[in-house]
This record gives sequence, C-alpha cells and structure tokens, in this order.
Amino acid sequence: INLTVASTGGNVTSEYMYGLMFEDINHSGDGGIYAELIQNRAFQGSTEFPSTLSPWSAIGNATLRLQNTSVPLSSALPTSVNVAAASEKTKGKIGLLNPGWWGIDVKARPYTGSFWALGSYAGTFTVKLQSAITNQVFASLDITSGCQAGMWVEHKFTLEPKMDAPNSNNTFVLEFDAGQGSVNFNLISLFPPTYKNSPNGNRQDLMSALKGLNPSFLRMPGGNNLEGDSYHYRWVWNETIGPLTSRPGRPGTWGYENTDGLGLIEYFNWCADLEMEPLLAVWSGMYLGGDVLSASALAPYVNDTLNELEFLLGPTTTPYGSLRASLGYPTPFPLKFIEIGNEDNLSGGATSYASYRFTMFYEAISAAYPSLTIISSTGDLTAVGPDSATDFHIYTLPDYFVSQFGKWDNVPRTHKVLIGEYANVQYNVLDQPLAGVNWSAPKLMWPVWAGAVSESVWSIGAERNGDVILGQSYAPGFMNLNSFEWSPDLISFTADPAQTVLSTSYYAIQLLSNARYNATVPVSSDADFGPAYWVAGVSDPGQYTFKTAIYNSTSAVPFNIAFDGLAAGAKGTLTVLTAPDGLSSNTLVNGTVVDVVKKIATALTANEEGAFEFELENYSVAVLTT
Ligand code: AHR
Repeated sequence: INLTVASTGGNVTSEYMYGLMFEDINHSGDGGIYAELIQNRAFQGSTEFPSTLSPWSAIGNATLRLQNTSVPLSSALPTSVNVAAASEKTKGKIGLLNPGWWGIDVKARPYTGSFWALGSYAGTFTVKLQSAITNQVFASLDITSGCQAGMWVEHKFTLEPKMDAPNSNNTFVLEFDAGQGSVNFNLISLFPPTYKNSPNGNRQDLMSALKGLNPSFLRMPGGNNLEGDSYHYRWVWNETIGPLTSRPGRPGTWGYENTDGLGLIEYFNWCADLEMEPLLAVWSGMYLGGDVLSASALAPYVNDTLNELEFLLGPTTTPYGSLRASLGYPTPFPLKFIEIGNEDNLSGGATSYASYRFTMFYEAISAAYPSLTIISSTGDLTAVGPDSATDFHIYTLPDYFVSQFGKWDNVPRTHKVLIGEYANVQYNVLDQPLAGVNWSAPKLMWPVWAGAVSESVWSIGAERNGDVILGQSYAPGFMNLNSFEWSPDLISFTADPAQTVLSTSYYAIQLLSNARYNATVPVSSDADFGPAYWVAGVSDPGQYTFKTAIYNSTSAVPFNIAFDGLAAGAKGTLTVLTAPDGLSSNTLVNGTVVDVVKKIATALTANEEGAFEFELENYSVAVLTT
C-alpha cells in the first residue's frame, strides 16, 4: 500500500478521544477499585438485599447477631453486629473474622483501620491480619477500649505487617476478652495505602493500570447502575457524600448492595488523580425496567440535578456550595460534561425522552450552566438540543465493528457523539458475518485479540472523525474474577494485584490512546480500506502519528508511507501489537497471568524517496510516529 500523508487539511481532534466508563458492576467498585478491604463493613441492607452477616464468621466461642440497637450508629447505618460469648463459661478471646473481598492483599506497609463499638467493655481489642490457611499472623495490634456505655465510640488504628504474606488468602480479625458482656460493632474498615494516599481512596495497582491507558475522561456513575432496576432505586448523589456513617448504601442494579463509599466526591477525586475530565451522568426519569415518570413527577428530579450541580459547581455562598465546603472542598469541582440518563433509547423510553424528559433537563441545566455540554443518552443525533452531544453504545461482533469503520464519515457535524460504551462481546458467527450479538448465548469470558483488532479498526474510524467524536470508552472497565455479572471486561482482577489481567483490548487502547495528535491530516492511497485501516494526524509540524489495524488479511501487508515535509533519512518509531492468533486472549490460568499480546517497537528511517517502509502481519495494530 502506497500512502501519502498531507501536513494540513484535516480536522481538529477532540482532546478527549480516549476515556473510561465506570459503574459498580462485577464488584468493580465495592470489592474492586474502591480500596476498602472489609466486605460488608457496615451491614448495609435494603428490602432487596437484606442486611446480612455474610461473609463474617465468629472467632472463639462467640455468637454473632445482627441488631438494630435502640441507639444506632447513625440513621444511615442502623444495623450492627452483636458479638457475645456463646455461653457464660466461655473464656479467652471472642470476636469476628472477615475474609475481605475474596482475600486480602497483605504486604509490609501500613493499613489504616477503624471500627465503631457500642458496649461497656473495658479491656483491649485486638486486630489482626492473618493467613486463612495456616492462621499465621502477619500483623497484630492491641487497642485500648474507649467504650462508654450507651454510646458508639470510634476506634482508629494502624496495622503494619512486618512481612508480605505469600498470597492473598488472608483474613482480618477483631477480637476482645470474653466475660465482660457483649459488644456491638459497626463500620469496621481497613484500607491499604491508596493511590496518591487519598483518604477513602482507590486501589493503587488498579489506578496505575488505568493511568497506563492515558484516559481523558471518566463517565460515571453508570450505566445501568445509575438507573436502578425494577427495585426503583436510582443512584442518589446526596446519599453518597459526607462521612461514611451518613451513607446508607443502595441496592445496586447488578445484584448486590452498594456501600456508596465510592461516592460523588470520590469520583471527582479519582478524576483529579488521573487528570481526567469528569463526565457526570444523572438520572433521567426512567428506571431500567422501563418505568417512566410523568413530566410533573419528573420536575423534582430535574431540580435535584440542579442541586447536585450547585453542590459541585456553586459558590460557597449557595446552600449546596456551602455543603461542599463543609465537607472540605471549598473550591468548586471542574465539570464540562453532563449526560442525561443512560440508554434512554431502550426499554420503550425513547418517546418520553424526546418529548419531555430530555427537554426538561436540557432547559433547566443550560439556563443555569450554559457552558456545560449536555449529552443525551440515546445515541440518536436528532434527539439532542443545540450545542450538545449524544452517547452511542455498541456491543457487537468483530466483523460488524469492522463493517462500521466509515459510520461517522458523513454524519452531520452539528452535534458531537460520545461513544460511551463499546466492546466486542462475542466472536463472529460463521456464515453470518454481520449477525448481531445473541444476548441469550454466552459472551466471551476474555476479550480476544481479533476482537481487540476490530475495536481498533472501529476506534481508528472514530479518530478519523475526531471533529464529531467527543471520545470513546470501552465498557465494562473492570471485573472481579470472584464475582461478576458481565464479561468480557477491560481489566480483570482479584484481591491479589499479581493476578490482574490486562486484556487484549486494554493493550490495543493503551497503544492508541498514548499516541495522540492535535488534528487529522488527509491520506491519499492507491488502495481501499481493508484489510488495512488507517488514520494519520499531526501535532507540531513534522510530528506525525500514523495508526493502522490489519483485520482479515491473507498475507502480510506492505506499507510505503511518505509524509509531507519529511525527507530521506527522517526518523520514525513503529510500535506493533500482535498476538499468536485472533482467538488468543490474555487470561488468568491457575492464578498465573498469561499475557499473549506482544508489543515490539522498531526504529525506522525514511528511504531515499522519503518514505517509511514496513510490513504488518494479519491482526496487527500499529502506530508509526515521526
Ligand atoms: O456495560 C454494561 C451495561 O451495558 C451498562 O450498564 C449499560 O449501559 C449497557 O447496557
């Protein structure tokens, strides 16, 4: 293929071309990136997921009971565990044990913990991190009881193992001396050092993995988890802020109670930590099952969104801006993008969305915050207001992704498009190359390499239209391998950071997202797109970025690329991703990460005609920078 790349004449590219989508699915929040190590720390429950003792177990001859004491820890956290000696003859230590989120990663570093206790116990409490297999104790600390009868007292501690545990099959223990009556406990919490040491922050290793993707935005907090399921529990912003004692949690859409420890402010701190633009989604008046509010019933929720925006953006002289300041954040948070709902084109919601729901939000928000970009959730360019954008989602098969390479080439330039969720979820169906996803059949467990290449073809198509595409984010981002509802996912993990699997799709996005440019430039060619697909961009004069993906080629594809203004001897770097074959995946096998994606960087020099020459095998994703 002979290509000639111009130096000007393309489109200015969105600075947000690659970002992240996050919601609590697959225990990606609780038990995932949110670094809390204790599972079910505050016995939060609802009619849908009643309070439970699981996974706590008794230590010594203790009896554990859930209780709603006459003096609750808080109205948000009314349920606690009562730990009592099983009989009057019980001697020694009694207490309770927590296995973490399917294990606890124990390293020689400080763990910050706390628990609330109610009782008149006057001895010492002991907290420990120990092996679930051998009971070997890695750290133990005695804490003098501060209990005072009739009131909840917080006990804070730092637990510092002297050595790393050999694996993550570890537990947390809290115990005390039997014989002085029972003690109630609540909000039993333990954090490892978090990313950038943010209090109530995120797992260091998973944040570093995200940082590797060079993301420009974070779309949160859902996804379906924003909407609330048939339970009618939408995500409620003001129940996710303030001290943990004032967060009741809610029944998440994905089958488990959410603690909401990872709340609105934590999302904004996460954005600050990774230098991402927040893209905040708000509930649009439709529950996931399709129940829709009338216009009059919706009005208070529109108002609630204005309150949320005042909380985030308002001066401290406003009621909600002052609430923000009282929580330690006097400076307003940055916010440019707000999305109204999630997938309101589905479940019969499109008509009410277009006729009044979106309009009500649009009019109220744009009047109060004219500089915000308001994003509709339908992916339908006709449903949005002026100067706004729409969110298009696509879960599909590799061949279909590739067939959609030119999807954005001729759309009107009047509105922007966010590709807020995309992923290859099943492999091609033989003889029906463009058949859609069969949602009753299993999806892929792990992203496959041909799927990642097809996503790259799709992404290159989006990049070619960087004037209309605001950005794109793969979804879902995370899966806890011990408990998940949706595969495939970008990053899979357990409690043990050594078991984190960065998927084939992760590597492809990492390559493309770390090779940004300011504007596309025209490429003339003597061949059509397919099996090679490409885009070229420029930042400063002479600094070109050429990206290509090869999908379904029967032989290696030779390239000869001349860049306007670059002469013989010009230097370039070609970085190529490949895998053994299209169906290979990065996986976890018997606890060991098997990484199939190979990345090779080669220094290139332009030939006598000033062109760069190289060949790419089938299923390659490559970036040439000059
Ligand atoms: O990413 C998983 C789900 O897919 C999201 O929650 C939803 O928006 C989409 O249907």
